Parts: sequence; structure tokens; C-alpha cells
Amino acid sequence: MRFATWFLLCALTAVCADDRLASGPYVINPAAKSATIGWVVETGCVKTGASADQLSCQAPVLESERVSVSGLKPGETIYYEIPGTAPAAERTGHFKVPPVGRTSFHFVVFGDTRTRHDLHRRVIQAISTTNPDFVVHTGDLVQDGYNTAQWPIFFDIEKDLLRKTVFYPVLGNHERDNARFHEFFESGSGYYSFDWGSAHFSMIDSDVKNVGEGEGAHERFWTEQRQWLEEDLQKNQKADFRFVVMHHPPITVNHEKEGHASKETPLLMPLFEKMKVTAVFAGHDHDYQHHVKNGIQYIVTGGGGAPLAKVGPGFPGITKKVESTEHYVNVQVDGNKAHMQAVALDGHLIDSFDLNPSSPW
Ligand SMILES: [Fe+2]
Repeated sequence: MRFATWFLLCALTAVCADDRLASGPYVINPAAKSATIGWVVETGCVKTGASADQLSCQAPVLESERVSVSGLKPGETIYYEIPGTAPAAERTGHFKVPPVGRTSFHFVVFGDTRTRHDLHRRVIQAISTTNPDFVVHTGDLVQDGYNTAQWPIFFDIEKDLLRKTVFYPVLGNHERDNARFHEFFESGSGYYSFDWGSAHFSMIDSDVKNVGEGEGAHERFWTEQRQWLEEDLQKNQKADFRFVVMHHPPITVNHEKEGHASKETPLLMPLFEKMKVTAVFAGHDHDYQHHVKNGIQYIVTGGGGAPLAKVGPGFPGITKKVESTEHYVNVQVDGNKAHMQAVALDGHLIDSFDLNPSSPW
């Protein structure tokens, strides 16, 4: 009887089974033969107010859904539709399975999308016109990872892009190591790696201050991650390109805020040189920066919408370009050649250069 009542209520109101599609769909973690399609539904809302009869929704209750698909062929395009009652156009998408070996592909790197949603939206619209095979986010997706109201805003702005590409984010300090990030993106320990064609990507969690509690926990995490990074890069010495992505830049011209810069990531630079890393992509500073030190390209791309930073002078002989503007970074790989362009939101070309494959070392 109880079930019959529930069923009747649902049939009349279409509420019970009609959890709202709050985020996605999006595609993460594709390996050569498998991928995970994710989406988020809003199952309700926690209301608060000054009195019992003046309540308003403050915190949506979000539920993360993920489905793995396997048996895929490298390089093929997969079309999908997730279940739900939203219009089919909002539940469908496609993505490319990572190809294997030397080939041509195009990816975009951007970051720091946490505020100024109008500019975030315009950056995403500009990226979307380039139809990247995949996109890399350098962190600070949202202002506060614990605020469940902010994740649907992020996904709403990015939904048209994420439904036609693959998404690879790293943790920023504003995610605050919140469980939502790990749930949504299956990021596990916070660091992971993947291959696309002949390129290898090592994705680092540089937000050490938010991992665990106390200095001891921070240091253990960093030691373990550094060890993993060294092993990961060592195992992939045959790749044409080795890219490392993290939120906090090892080199930056932004020093205006105390405690803003990372203590840890500059210490990785000798490892990058030893492991012949092609380029390091970071965010955190809301501008574009390009430095070259001991053969490693260091790119800061944090122009996804967060308030622009005041940039200081560059480092003589190291800094190639600095510009404080909203932007994204395009990378076109053709076989063992690659070219990078930083493009401003107004369309002007900030920077353009070849990325040498790692083999000349
Ligand atoms: Fe940041």
C-alpha cells in the first residue's frame, strides 16, 4: 500500500523520479579502451531562513552519478545519452577515445574560473569554437568547493563544451580538497596521469595545505606524490611530450600576497629537468605567464574568469611573456611537433611558440 501511494504521488507530481539534472554530462578518465561518463542530479535542497515560514533554498543536495563504458577503440568517437527526464539535447554528448602513438590532436588549457561568471562563460564559449579533443583545467573551478550551490553554476557555464570533449582538471586551493571534486572527477588521491597520442600528462595536487591535518600530513602527502611523479615520468621517458599540470606555479611574477606562492612546487624544477619535461602548466595567478628555464617551458594560465592579477616585472633571461587578461591556451600536436598559442578573450594573440618534443635532451 505504501509503495502504491508513493507510485501514485510520483505519477501525479512527476517529482520523485524527476531529480533535476544539475550538472553534466561530462567525460573523465578515458583510457585507451574505457571512459567514465558522469553527471550530477539535485535531489532536494536544504532551506534556511530567519523564521520557520521564511525559508529559502541555500544548499542543493547533489548526488554524483558515474558510469564506466569499456570496449572502446583508441581514436574513435563515442556518442552517448544519459538517462533522465531532461530534454534529450541536454543528456547527450560525444567524446573521442584517446588515440595511441604519434598522431594529430588539439587540446586547450585554462583555469581559475571560480568567479565573474559572465567572463567565465565567454571564455568557455571561445574555447568551444575550437572543438578541442580534450580540455585541461589548472584548478580553482569554483570559489568554495564545499558550497554545493556553486558546482551547478560551474557546470552550467561549461556544459556545452563538456558534452563534446574530455575533461581533465587538477585541484586548486579553492576546491579545498572537498570530497565533491573527488566524487565528480574520480581523482582518487588527487594526482593521476593519462596519455593522449604520444603525449603523457602528469596531473598534480599542489594544494598541500588542504590535504589532511597538520604539517606532518602535508609533508607525507607531498613526499608520496613527489615519489609518484618521479616514477610516473620515469616510466614515460619514451613519450614525445611530457606535460605536468598543477595549480600553483613553480615560477611566477605574482608576489603581492603573502602566502600566495607555493613553497613546494618550485622544489620540483630539478625533477622536471632530470625527467626532460616539455612544459609545465599551472594556474592560481589570474593572468598569462610564459617562462623558460633550463629548457623547460613554464606556462601560467589562470585567465578563466577570476579577478585579474597585477603582474610584476619578469625575470631577465627567463620570462618570455606576461599579460594580465582573460584567455586560454591552445596546443596543436602533429606527430612529434607541437605548437602553443595563448589567445585572449578579445581574440588577440598573446603568445605563440613551438613546443620542442622531449627527445632533444
Ligand atoms: Fe588558486
